[in-house]
Amino acid sequence: MARWHALVALVAWFAVLQGFTQAVTLEVREGNATCIKAELSASFSITYDTSNGTSTAQVSLPNSTTVDTSSSSCGSDGSSPWLVAVFGAGHALGLGFSTNGSLYSVANLTLQYNLSDPSVFPQANSSDVVTVVSTSVGIWARVNTTYRCQSPASFGVGGATVTFSDMKMEAYMPGDDLSPTESVCVADQVSTTAPPAPASTTAAPTPVPTPPGTPERGTYSVTNGNGTVCLLAQMGLQLNVSHFSVSQNKTVQDIVNLTPNLTTISGSCEASSATLVLMQERTTTLNFTFTLNSTTNKYHLSSVSLLASWPDMAAPFSASNSSLDYLRSTLGRSYMCNAEQTLVVVPAFSLNTFRLQVQPFGVTTNQFATAEECQMDQDQMLIPIIVGAALAGLVLIVLIAYLIGRKRSHAGYQTI
Ligand SMILES: *[C@@H]1O[C@H](CO)[C@@H](O)[C@H](O)[C@H]1NC(C)=O
Ligand SMILES: *[C@@H]1O[C@H](CO)[C@@H](O)[C@H](O)[C@H]1NC(C)=O
Ligand SMILES: *[C@@H]1O[C@H](CO)[C@@H](O)[C@H](O)[C@H]1NC(C)=O
Ligand SMILES: *[C@@H]1O[C@H](CO)[C@@H](O)[C@H](O)[C@H]1NC(C)=O
Ligand SMILES: *[C@@H]1O[C@H](CO)[C@@H](O)[C@H](O)[C@H]1NC(C)=O
Ligand SMILES: *[C@@H]1O[C@H](CO)[C@@H](O)[C@H](O)[C@H]1NC(C)=O
Ligand SMILES: *[C@@H]1O[C@H](CO)[C@@H](O)[C@H](O)[C@H]1NC(C)=O
Ligand SMILES: *[C@@H]1O[C@H](CO)[C@@H](O)[C@H](O)[C@H]1NC(C)=O
Ligand SMILES: *[C@@H]1O[C@H](CO)[C@@H](O)[C@H](O)[C@H]1NC(C)=O
Ligand SMILES: *[C@@H]1O[C@H](CO)[C@@H](O)[C@H](O)[C@H]1NC(C)=O
Ligand SMILES: *[C@@H]1O[C@H](CO)[C@@H](O)[C@H](O)[C@H]1NC(C)=O
Ligand SMILES: *[C@@H]1O[C@H](CO)[C@@H](O)[C@H](O)[C@H]1NC(C)=O
Repeated sequence: MARWHALVALVAWFAVLQGFTQAVTLEVREGNATCIKAELSASFSITYDTSNGTSTAQVSLPNSTTVDTSSSSCGSDGSSPWLVAVFGAGHALGLGFSTNGSLYSVANLTLQYNLSDPSVFPQANSSDVVTVVSTSVGIWARVNTTYRCQSPASFGVGGATVTFSDMKMEAYMPGDDLSPTESVCVADQVSTTAPPAPASTTAAPTPVPTPPGTPERGTYSVTNGNGTVCLLAQMGLQLNVSHFSVSQNKTVQDIVNLTPNLTTISGSCEASSATLVLMQERTTTLNFTFTLNSTTNKYHLSSVSLLASWPDMAAPFSASNSSLDYLRSTLGRSYMCNAEQTLVVVPAFSLNTFRLQVQPFGVTTNQFATAEECQMDQDQMLIPIIVGAALAGLVLIVLIAYLIGRKRSHAGYQTI
């Protein structure tokens, strides 16, 4: 079998447009020919175990990234083209390609990270080198064109999230340079066609934020190992996240509704803690933990965390607070709040709940037990009672007045 030399060139520079994310250029060559070239910024959000819980590391592809010539290949020996970029203490990002003659695509996305690197994974309780792979990436382009995606795009890979932005890439290249013809990703098509493009292309488009309205109510239940439902929840959820917008170059307030039929549910139930994890389209992961105090038989929502990698974010957003005290109720009861409630998690992230009912402990018949209602609902219930009482009083007064009036007029007729 022919032995090929993979010649690799690498250029890195700071992206002038986005001071803090840097773009790297990665190239895989065989002989004189370049077969894969990628210009991209990438950041990683990796959740790992520490001795006292879990932590999330945020890493960007540094400008010292190089192509691993021994693993990368142009695929001329019958294998598939593979770009492997290495950075830091044994971390790597791999992109495998495949083609059917008219289209090429990223067949797999691999992330390797070295938990014994304390600068990235402080207090990790393991020293393993972890490799995670995703084979459903959805990056594709026409052969002989450059794939372009300036908008950030996030991909779940194992427990990690990889976010690419400012991406230009081509595999199966006909020449040494990126083809001038581009296959533009859907996210870019939306953001470039949405604002009517005037002569000035330098002005940053300012998308008008459209408030999403009341979120749809979803039913989320967690099932035990033995198939019994152990946590019940019904609610509409709205996320209020303030983050830095790349396109607007400033911090913006994003209001995002959770769509129940796009949400996958997982979780776990233990004696004194129960967890509900909602994941929407791999870009949003919301985690609720309820705690039961077995002395007082009271439970409450003790922890909420959010991991979001939305388009237009400079880096994935991650926030958590595990000393919350919301949705208090009693074991054997459910907690209900039809009114809108705002649960502040951290200053940059709060959660609005609508028509909420939860029961994280003591679920017996797949159904909610008697509800303890929130104060707001009780107050709202008082209004019709007060109005009803006032109306009843009014009716009574009118009736008495009428009866008195009738008696008087009777008396009047009799005197005539
Ligand atoms: C973003 O804003 C900062 C400060 O407001 C400014 O210095 C920088 O030039 C802006 N960048 C772009 C790309 O507009
Ligand atoms: C590579 O290119 C150089 C000059 O461009 C040429 O002299 C050389 O023969 C080429 N080598 C191969 C293997 O094509
Ligand atoms: C774990 O403990 C360290 C200090 O020992 C602390 O800095 C860190 O925040 C803790 N992590 C969690 C998830 O509690
Ligand atoms: C992982 O990191 C440690 C500490 O930085 C280093 O000694 C080790 O060689 C790294 N492993 C790999 C496979 O590079
Ligand atoms: C990813 O794709 C490359 C090239 O197609 C292949 O060599 C590699 O084995 C694949 N990795 C996994 C884990 O499937
Ligand atoms: C390649 O795949 C695309 C999408 O799956 C399909 O539309 C196209 O016809 C395929 N081309 C060939 C040559 O098979
Ligand atoms: C791509 O370009 C090469 C060289 O220019 C050509 O041979 C090939 O037919 C082209 N393929 C497609 C699908 O256009
Ligand atoms: C690390 O901690 C997690 C829980 O915090 C535990 O499940 C795991 O077994 C630990 N791993 C090692 C190697 O100690
Ligand atoms: C299922 O497991 C839970 C504890 O994990 C237990 O309380 C319950 O009785 C079990 N239900 C059935 C039907 O086995
Ligand atoms: C989102 O949060 C901000 C700041 O906490 C607040 O001013 C704003 O009213 C909130 N918006 C919604 C729709 O909850
Ligand atoms: C989700 O629900 C909305 C409205 O209820 C509907 O328009 C949409 O088609 C549904 N999507 C899926 C994937 O079921
Ligand atoms: C349970 O509640 C009691 C009374 O509020 C408190 O003293 C105790 O520390 C709580 N226990 C736990 C495990 O939080």
